[in-house]
Amino acid sequence: GIPQKVDALMRQMTWEEKVGQLHQAYVERPTDSIMGLIKAGKMGSMLNGRTTFYTLKDRNEMQRIAVEESRLGIPLLFAHDVVHGFKTSFPINLAQACSWNPDLVQQVAVVAGKEARSQGVDWAFAPMMDVSRDPRWGRVSECYGEDPLLNALMGSAVVKGYQGDELSEKSALMACMKHFVGYSAPDGGRDYQSTDFSKTSLFNTYLPPFKSAVEAGAFSAMSSFNEIDGTPVTASKNLIADILKEQWQFDGVVVSDWDAVVQLMDHGVADTKSTAGKRALLAGVDVEMKSDSYFSALEKGLTEEQQSAIDEACRRVLTAKFKLGLFDNPYASQDPSVEKLNRKLAKKIAQQSIVLLKNDQVLPLTESKKNIALMGPFADTQKVLGYWKSIGKSADAVSLSKALSMEKGLNISPKISPQTDLIIYCAGEQEEEFGEANSKYDCRLSAEQRAEIQALSEGDIPVVLVVFNGRPLVLTEEEKQVEGIVLAWHLGLESGHAIADVLTGRYNPSGRLPITFPKSTGQIPIYYNHKPSGRPQSNNYKGELGQPLYPFGFGLSYGHTEISEPIFSKDTFQKSDTLTFEVKVKNNSDLTVKETVQVYFHDPVAWQSQPVKRLLTFKQIDLEGRDEQVVKFEVPVQALGYYDSQGKYILEEGAIHIFSGKDAQVKSFTPINISSS
Ligand code: IFM
Repeated sequence: GIPQKVDALMRQMTWEEKVGQLHQAYVERPTDSIMGLIKAGKMGSMLNGRTTFYTLKDRNEMQRIAVEESRLGIPLLFAHDVVHGFKTSFPINLAQACSWNPDLVQQVAVVAGKEARSQGVDWAFAPMMDVSRDPRWGRVSECYGEDPLLNALMGSAVVKGYQGDELSEKSALMACMKHFVGYSAPDGGRDYQSTDFSKTSLFNTYLPPFKSAVEAGAFSAMSSFNEIDGTPVTASKNLIADILKEQWQFDGVVVSDWDAVVQLMDHGVADTKSTAGKRALLAGVDVEMKSDSYFSALEKGLTEEQQSAIDEACRRVLTAKFKLGLFDNPYASQDPSVEKLNRKLAKKIAQQSIVLLKNDQVLPLTESKKNIALMGPFADTQKVLGYWKSIGKSADAVSLSKALSMEKGLNISPKISPQTDLIIYCAGEQEEEFGEANSKYDCRLSAEQRAEIQALSEGDIPVVLVVFNGRPLVLTEEEKQVEGIVLAWHLGLESGHAIADVLTGRYNPSGRLPITFPKSTGQIPIYYNHKPSGRPQSNNYKGELGQPLYPFGFGLSYGHTEISEPIFSKDTFQKSDTLTFEVKVKNNSDLTVKETVQVYFHDPVAWQSQPVKRLLTFKQIDLEGRDEQVVKFEVPVQALGYYDSQGKYILEEGAIHIFSGKDAQVKSFTPINISSS
């Protein structure tokens, strides 16, 4: 088996060769010095840039040197940030989360993974599943929103999509859950700053998605840049060695983030590279990305504890290589089935990522609204791929103006004329305004865009705003000014077609927000699953301060549905029971509607104060016009518990309130009881 093969190999390895397996170099092109490192067995894996990519030929040549010319012939692992597509550009992850459709997100990952593997990528640095409550943070665009369950489901779907049933399958690549942990909560939303949250938040909010990804089989994890409570995660034995590896039995590879090991010196917890390397190693960081302090640690001599840490890390890396089948199949070859861009899937996920936020009877476009002035900085742009576009090309993307100009029966003009029936104004954020290190302190549209929207709204022609955003934006002024708002994010390749489908009603919008949209930047952080208070802000300060502009879970369609309260056949459940209940959904319109039935719960009295609501589960259904459906749910009663501040999971007896509805502001609930017997 693999453990025996790993042991046999390790018996032949020098300390230098073992540490070589732990070194991940940054490589754009196979230079002589890179080839030298590979030949000497001083490199175990490599990564490359956000948009740069070595050719398949280069990749295989570097692999050949490793396999044929290094002493032990250990193959290399090739890593790349395959974040929301590789060649085919899919919507940014926060947009994908609006689909509330993990199965579709998994299909997207399957395609992205196949495309990447076909170009020789063995290891994808995704999914990012940092629960984020801060729109100022630029990387909010890369996660699946503010809810632990939604992040867990989406992230696990990506893990399954990339890894398939077996890592050894030809189309599988190794997923990397990141960033473990707390990276998404930097002070003030400023990327890389330290984080400061309670243990209760750590256990209930930030850790659970990672635990789910481990259960889904994620075979690698990236430790995060940030510091928590005095210890940078890269040096945190408690988080990596104890919780991730020991308690959760994670047996995959932990890689540091970019230069994060040497940055232990910047954090002020190591004075030399060698100390930094030793701290990270002992914390459980197996692979050092980019920097090479593990070699420095070696030069200064090793204690027994450090030697066993190196052995352990090397064992994990070699196990991953065996699991991926790299010893048998080190070379990559083009998969003819992924040569063409997958426009069909790109359009499907883009349609489901769009959220209709406001509609004062202006949409969908009808006979009386066929003369359209299409304006604003995003009307004609193909720059809609978002951050981490991998090898995707903007030139392949469809702009909204292109898509609308192909519509029969619509007259599209870039200017207002006496015939204009409707103005569609395309506002938003450029790709460079979100993503890594692109934090903001003002989450409104730019002053120019705001001024234009205001001026347009003062005329007599109705205005629909289409927003191309990478984060939740503050749209409070616009909400008052315009008649319709379509949230289009950065949707990738099929952006224009998907938006046109929604505008024309060919696709009835179904997206739901995975994150709260604040009324003002000053409200941040504002999230639905906050704790109760003796003096709730929604009742004070004229109710303004505690109310979001659009709540978590919100999204309109062109139809109209009604969702009942949950219906239980009994009111008391034992701790080991399955909670079974039904929810009735009625379509009061003639249109087919995709509805997401969201179920939340609240524990009104517990030893530790519990959030006002927590997402328990959800189901998506398609309802034909005037149709009625009964949606059945089954959830383990155990899911109603919480982690205490020591990380112990507790399910208390007593009342629980169960809500079902269209968003996190649902008010009415059905009470049930948990009993011990
Ligand atoms: O995977 C990324 C990470 O999310 C941020 N720093 C760089 C890594 C590799 O590109």
